[in-house]
Amino acid sequence: MSAPLLDLRVSDKHYDTRTIIERLTLSIRRGEIVSLVGPSGCGKSTLLRILAGLDRDFNGEILLDGRPQQGPSNRIGVIFQEPRLLPWLNVADNVAFPAGPRRGNDPRVGSLLAEVGLAEARAYLPKQLSGGMAQRVAIARGLFSEPDLLLLDEPFSAVDAMTRMRLQDLLLSLVRSHGTAALLVTHDLDEALYLSDRVLLMTPSGKTGAGRIVREIAVGVERPRDRRDLLLASLRGELLEGLGAVTV
Ligand SMILES: Nc1ncnc2c1ncn2[C@@H]1O[C@H](COP(=O)(O)OP(=O)(O)OP(=O)(O)O)[C@@H](O)[C@H]1O
Ligand SMILES: [Mg+2]
Repeated sequence: MSAPLLDLRVSDKHYDTRTIIERLTLSIRRGEIVSLVGPSGCGKSTLLRILAGLDRDFNGEILLDGRPQQGPSNRIGVIFQEPRLLPWLNVADNVAFPAGPRRGNDPRVGSLLAEVGLAEARAYLPKQLSGGMAQRVAIARGLFSEPDLLLLDEPFSAVDAMTRMRLQDLLLSLVRSHGTAALLVTHDLDEALYLSDRVLLMTPSGKTGAGRIVREIAVGVERPRDRRDLLLASLRGELLEGLGAVTV
C-alpha cells in the first residue's frame, strides 16, 4: 500500500494552561475523503488550523508525502464556514486570489467556474451572490492551486437544506475528478456518512478533557450512495452512540 499523503501527530496543543488536543494521530491517503465529527469545543477547528499551517504553536509534526510541513502550503487548500471572499474583487479575481490579487484572467478560472456552475458570474462582485453561490466560489478558490488536500470547516452550515445537498454532490464530484483528498469538519452526521470513506469521532477525553479521536468508522458503501441507505443509517446510530447521544 502506498505511503499516506498526510500524517499528523499532535502530542499536545495548549491555549494558555488548557490542553485542547492531546496524543492525536491522523493519516489521510491520496484521494480519500475523511470527516471529523465531535461536540462543540472539542478542538476540530483547532486541528484544521494546525493542518492548514495557520497554527504552529503545538507539539507534534505534520508530514506531507513523508516530508515535514511547516506553515501554509499551496498543496493544502482551505474552505471555511463562511466564504471569506474579498468584497472589492470580482468572482474571477477571488477564485484566482491564491496567485495574487488580480489574476482572474488565468485560464484555470474559467474551467473551475464552469465546474461549480458559475461560468456566467465571473464579473459579479461578492455582494451580488447568494450564500450558496458565494460558497461555490470559495470551493473553486480552494481548488485553484490544485491542492492534494482540501480542508473544509463546516463549509455548508450557512445554506438551506436543498443547496446543502447540491453542494455536497458538487464537492464529491470535484474531489473525485481532481483526485483531491478532503478532510471535512461537520456537525451533520448524515453529511459525514454520505460523503466520506471514513468518519472520525473526536471527543474530549481523559483527565485533561483534551480532544482525541476515539472512534473511526469506515463507510463501506459504494458510490453513488443513496442517502436513505440502511447501512448509512446504522452507522449513524454508531456515531450517535459514540457521541453519547443515545443510550444502549
Ligand atoms: N484563540 C484561542 N484562544 C484560546 N482558546 C481558544 C482559541 N481558539 C479556540 N479556543 C478554545 O479551544 C477549544 C477548541 O476550540 P475549537 O474552535 O477548535 O472547537 P471546535 O471543535 O471547532 O468547536 P465547534 O464545533 O463549536 O466549531 C475551545 O474550548 C475554545 O474555547
Ligand atoms: Mg469549529
